[in-house]
Amino acid sequence: MAKKLVSVLRGTPSWPPPLWLMRQAGRYLPEYRALRARAGDFITLCTTPELAAEATLQPVRRFGMDGAILFSDILILPWALGYGLRFADGEGPVLPRWQPEDTAGLDLRRLEVALAPVMEAIARVRVGLGEDTALIGFAGAPFTVACYMIEGGGSKDHARTRAIAYREPRDFEHLLAVLTEATITSLALQIEAGAEAVMLFDSWAGVLPTSLFRQYVANPAARIKSALGKQFPEVPVIGFPRLAGGQLGLYAAISGVDAVGMDTATDPALAASLVAPPVALQGNLDPVALLAGGAPMIAEVRRLLGALRGRAHVFNLGHGILPETPPAHVAELIALVRSGGETA
Ligand code: CP3
Repeated sequence: MAKKLVSVLRGTPSWPPPLWLMRQAGRYLPEYRALRARAGDFITLCTTPELAAEATLQPVRRFGMDGAILFSDILILPWALGYGLRFADGEGPVLPRWQPEDTAGLDLRRLEVALAPVMEAIARVRVGLGEDTALIGFAGAPFTVACYMIEGGGSKDHARTRAIAYREPRDFEHLLAVLTEATITSLALQIEAGAEAVMLFDSWAGVLPTSLFRQYVANPAARIKSALGKQFPEVPVIGFPRLAGGQLGLYAAISGVDAVGMDTATDPALAASLVAPPVALQGNLDPVALLAGGAPMIAEVRRLLGALRGRAHVFNLGHGILPETPPAHVAELIALVRSGGETA
């Protein structure tokens, strides 16, 4: 029988909904901070199988979520293609600022060897996971990975990326095409290594107007879903086009993903009307409600559960757990969702 998280992602509702949390492994956990200190460097943590597997398992051991998400990062993919990457303390990721000629240097043949430690981490996690917990693999969507490459790191408005999409569409499309193929390879390797569902994080999808959203967000997701669907028809794909708002329906229809992630600002009732069953919905408690805890968190959880009752829904946050979040609030959240919103 399929694990509960996987069967809900494939469209079968379940009550109370299964749950996992974006960034469930991370700095809010003291055991993660200790592991991170032992690794020294974030990329070392991601690419040392024993350490990445341990980081993946930590939150599941403590809280018993229905899903474990592989501990890695969306920027490990360009790194594996030979593109520069470092994580500067307090600054976030730093990459070379992409120029059109850099696309030719992205080497798809490096992927299998460079990502081998990640696949070994997946195999180790599968050994350490209980039989009810599903392992989720992931990748950044091509558009979001391109944003980090073109801006050379994080950005408030992604103005350089968007200007290149308009002014140099050939160069931009070439970059996205290479990243799309690399993403398919990475996700296929993750599934072969033991991932039971995969998620595509398109964190900056919402900065594009509809015409470009269709071309650079929905179409690459469709290409990725169709390639994986041929090889692994039973493995659900979750698409998370963050800040897509009213474009969620267009995204679900074009991409063909099995489940759509809702960000914090999305009204779950609206998402339910835009995204037709059997496509599942995932999300979207405000991470700040979890940080606050107590009565406001309980009220938000009840609203969310009520809005999606009857739908295939995977309970999650609308974005990642904030580092300041008290771990006790996570335990309270899980008990609350598991009771269908009753206990407080
Ligand atoms: O628990 C999990 O969710 C699994 C691991 C995971 C990480 N990053 C670990 C991480 C996942 C799924 C991601 C996805 C990711 N990474 C996204 C998409 C989701 C989103 O947040 O929109 C993006 C845009 C990135 C890129 C990235 N990685 C940034 C911008 C940063 C710096 C900001 C920050 O939170 O520090 C990272 C670093 C990062 N990735 C950390 C973790 C736990 C913190 C690193 C540390 O320990 O210092």
